[in-house]
Amino acid sequence: MANSLLSALLLGLSATGAVAAPNAKRTLNQGGAPLKVISYKETPNGFRSSARGWNSFGIQANPQTLPSFKLDQEHVIEQCDRLVGLPGYDTCSLDSGWSVGGNGDEYGRIIYDDTVFDIPKLADHLHSKGLKMGVYIVPGAFLADVNKTIIHTDVKIGDVCHGNEGLVRCIFDFTQPAAQLWHNSAADLFASWGVDFVKLDFVTPGSPDNGQMLPADGSGSVIAWHKAIKQTGRKMRLDISWKLDRTQKYFNIWNSNADSMRTDQDLNNSGQSSFVSWATVQRAFDNYRQFIVAGLQLFDHLNIYPDMDNLLVGNNATTSGITDAQRQTVMTHYIGAGANLILGSDLTNLDKFGVNLLTNKAAQAVATFTAQYPIQPRNPGTGGQDSQQLQAWIAGPAPNGQAVVVLANYGPDLGQGGFNGTSTDVELVSASWKDLGIKGTYRVHDVWNNKDLGSQKSGVKASLGPGESVLLTLTRV
Ligand SMILES: *[C@@H]1O[C@H](CO)[C@@H](O)[C@H](O)[C@H]1NC(C)=O
Ligand SMILES: *[C@@H]1O[C@H](CO)[C@@H](O)[C@H](O)[C@H]1NC(C)=O
Ligand SMILES: *[C@@H]1O[C@H](CO)[C@@H](O)[C@H](O)[C@H]1NC(C)=O
Ligand SMILES: *[C@@H]1O[C@H](CO)[C@@H](O)[C@H](O)[C@H]1NC(C)=O
Repeated sequence: MANSLLSALLLGLSATGAVAAPNAKRTLNQGGAPLKVISYKETPNGFRSSARGWNSFGIQANPQTLPSFKLDQEHVIEQCDRLVGLPGYDTCSLDSGWSVGGNGDEYGRIIYDDTVFDIPKLADHLHSKGLKMGVYIVPGAFLADVNKTIIHTDVKIGDVCHGNEGLVRCIFDFTQPAAQLWHNSAADLFASWGVDFVKLDFVTPGSPDNGQMLPADGSGSVIAWHKAIKQTGRKMRLDISWKLDRTQKYFNIWNSNADSMRTDQDLNNSGQSSFVSWATVQRAFDNYRQFIVAGLQLFDHLNIYPDMDNLLVGNNATTSGITDAQRQTVMTHYIGAGANLILGSDLTNLDKFGVNLLTNKAAQAVATFTAQYPIQPRNPGTGGQDSQQLQAWIAGPAPNGQAVVVLANYGPDLGQGGFNGTSTDVELVSASWKDLGIKGTYRVHDVWNNKDLGSQKSGVKASLGPGESVLLTLTRV
C-alpha cells in the first residue's frame, strides 16, 4: 500500500562514505561520531525476542472504540481468538480489572474476580489455540491482608509489609526473606493457572503522575517478581511499567530483572472514539529515542526489550485515530525498536491495511533482525541523536553487513513532548552513510513498498510528508 507522497529516491553522492573523526565525543547534540552498534541479548527470563499479542488496555482506555466491550471472559476470548489469524502474535494479556481489587485469598495471594473471569479456564482455552495468557499486577500485598499468613510459613504479611503503597497495598520490606516468599506464593499460583506473561505496573522510581502516594523506590518489587517467576520453573515474561527511571542504577535493575520495560506514558485518547492521536504517537517515538540514547550511553548490549505501550495500528484510520501513512510509521518504529508488539486495537475490526502492517512477511523479517539490533537515531546531515522533525535511524549493521534504516518526517510538532519542528511541507529526508556511521556499498530495499532501490555507495533519501516514513533494508555488497 504505497502512499503517493512516499517515493524513496536514492542519492548518488560522490564520496564513498567517509569515516567519522576518531576522537569525536559521543554526546547528544554532536553528530558524526563513530557508530556504536547496540544489540539485544537474551532477557532475564530467557527470551530472544519481544512479546507479541493483544492487551485489553487500548479498548478499556478508549471504550467508545468498541462500546459493546466488557472486561470479562467472553469479550476477551472474542478478541483473543482473533490472534490465531495473526501468526506470531500469541499473548492475550489482561490489563487492570481482572483481579479482586481489595484483598487476596486466605494467604493474601492475588486472585481473579470470579464474577467476570475464570483464569485457569481462560488459560486452557488460549493454550489449546497455541496462545498465551497474560495478567496485570501492581507492587505490594493488600492492606486488608496484613493479618493473613504467607502460605507454608508462620509469617504474617504485616510482619514484612508496612505502610501504604497508595494502591490499597502495603510496601514490602525486601530485607526480610518472607517478603520474597509472598511473591513466590503469588507467582506459584499464577503458574498453576497457566500464566505466561506478567505486567507489573506502577513501579517507581518513575511513576509520578498517577495521583497516588507511591513509595520513592519500587525497584525491589521488580527484583522480587523476577526471582518469584524464576523459582516457579514456568517460563513467564515480566513486563514493567511505566515512566521508568533510566539512570544507571535503575536501568541496571530493569535490565537484569525484566524482559521488557515501558518507554512511554500510556497511549490513550480518552474521551474519543478512536485509539490514539498523532501528537501522542510523536511523544512515543521521542520516548523510544530517549530510551535507546540512554541505553547506548550505559550498555554495549541490552537484555531488555522496550515496551512502547499498546500498538494501536490495527483498525481503520477513523478508529485508530491516525492516517494510514501514520499507522505505517508507527508500525515501522515499533518494529525498528524491537519493541513489544502488543496490540491495543479492536481485533474484531482489523482492516486489510492493518492486517498487512501486522503480518507483512518482509516487515516481519525486519522484526527478526531488530529483535537483535534495534534502531538508534543518526540525524540527517549531522549524525546526531537529538530530537528533531526530520530523522534518520539505523539498526546494526550486523557483522554480515545487514542493516535497517528508517527515514521519517514526524512533523509538525503538536506539542506533547514530541519532535521539535514545525514544517507541514513534504521534505527531503537525506541521510549519508557518514550521517548513519557506515561505509561501503549497500543494496537497498524499500520494505513496505517492496521496491529494490539498487546499490548505493553514499546514502539514502526520501521525500516525505508529515507523518510519513520509509523502512529500508541494507545488504552490504
Ligand atoms: C489486624 O489485626 C489487628 C490486631 O488484631 C487489628 O487491630 C487490625 O485491625 C487487623 N487489620 C486488618 C486489616 O484486618
Ligand atoms: C488518558 O489521557 C488523559 C489526558 O492525557 C488523562 O487525563 C487520563 O488520565 C488518561 N487516562 C488513562 C487511563 O491513562
Ligand atoms: C472503520 O472501522 C469501524 C470499526 O472499527 C467501522 O465501524 C467503520 O465503519 C469503519 N469506517 C470506515 C470508513 O471504513
Ligand atoms: C527547536 O528548533 C529550533 C530551530 O531549529 C531551535 O531554535 C529551538 O531551540 C529548538 N527547540 C528545542 C526545544 O530543541
